[in-house]
Amino acid sequence: MTTFKTLDDLGDITGKVVLVRVDLNLPMQEGRASDVTRVEAAKPTILELADKGAKVLLLAHFGRPKGQRYSTMSTSMVQGDVERVIDREIMFIPELSGPVVEQSIGILRNGDIGLLDNVRFWPGEEANDPDFAKAIAANADIYVNDAFSAAHRAHATTEGLAHILPAYAGRSMEAELKALDAALGNPQPPVAAVVGGAKVSSKLAVLENLVGRVQHLIIGGGMANTFLAARGVDVGKSLCEHELTDVANRIMDQADHAGCTVHLPYDVTVAKEFAANPPSVRTCNVHEVAADEMILDIGPQAVEALGDVLKTCRTLVWNGPLGAFELEPFDSATVALARTAAALTQDGSLTSVAGGGDTVAALNHAGVAGDFSYISTAGGAFLEWMEGKELPGVAALAR
Ligand code: 3PG
Repeated sequence: MTTFKTLDDLGDITGKVVLVRVDLNLPMQEGRASDVTRVEAAKPTILELADKGAKVLLLAHFGRPKGQRYSTMSTSMVQGDVERVIDREIMFIPELSGPVVEQSIGILRNGDIGLLDNVRFWPGEEANDPDFAKAIAANADIYVNDAFSAAHRAHATTEGLAHILPAYAGRSMEAELKALDAALGNPQPPVAAVVGGAKVSSKLAVLENLVGRVQHLIIGGGMANTFLAARGVDVGKSLCEHELTDVANRIMDQADHAGCTVHLPYDVTVAKEFAANPPSVRTCNVHEVAADEMILDIGPQAVEALGDVLKTCRTLVWNGPLGAFELEPFDSATVALARTAAALTQDGSLTSVAGGGDTVAALNHAGVAGDFSYISTAGGAFLEWMEGKELPGVAALAR
């Protein structure tokens, strides 16, 4: 694993101004964050720096304002949520550099925390403009990046600042990188990957990278239909990218060559309409799907077989649900396999890492998120990492 400086490498930071890049891109409902997991993830870093006597300045983006100021996208919108989670008062500073920031730093006492405005209000952020980064750095002594979930962006506050100021990984970044290394970097074999979700097209690069790295590739969700169709199965009305069956065949060939077993379901749960508990729901062999039916989940026999596969594995990386988990009973496979993975993790036989988009929601729904070895807070960054890409924000922290 690449090595990074962490907060353990900081000397005395009393009175030092520390810029901390966090991810405050929180989902909002009625003016409040509906999920504060990302703030909870950043809390240990923020409090550790403050408690060591630094003046902590939080840097974050919020939405995609594309270089313009919108009051609805100010980071002040989440100030209250952050204060509640970290249980400290924060000073909101409506700029990133210049005299307002200088004066605010003068007012902050050692151990106080400030929140700068949305870094994406300035075009220099996404352009990774070195002058823009230098202007932000001018008021500070140290840069800490604790936003793994934004590390796939080569922006001024996720990448550029690391070249200007002494740069350190925050506690959440550190934990994330350790967990990801244990899952795909230097994992204990055999390794299984669960890749679910609607479309093969959005996860092509993920699948291509994984076949060369894992021993078992478990494909679920709408993606499995495209693979089944590639094997000549009539998937009826199911969501299926028929134009990608050649690609699916190529991936299965690559897997064959690499000694990776691709697991597709042999029984499925189908229905004629996409609704909760529809009267037409039934379980059948994949070869028995009628022309007017849709595959909406993996079947119980397949789930049992997949559970047996996980029992032979030491490492699991999970991205995406196995079925349309937001509607009953099409959550069954995801819930059952997630519970098996959680139980194996708790028994100590499996290291399990999950992340990306719907995955956390699916594991929360199964009630097992707390029983996995690690759950990533990242969406796009987790996927890019699964694609085997170098993340600019991480690379910039490397010693
Ligand atoms: C996220 O919400 O996944 C991160 O904060 C990155 O946001 P972005 O996709 O707008 O760069």
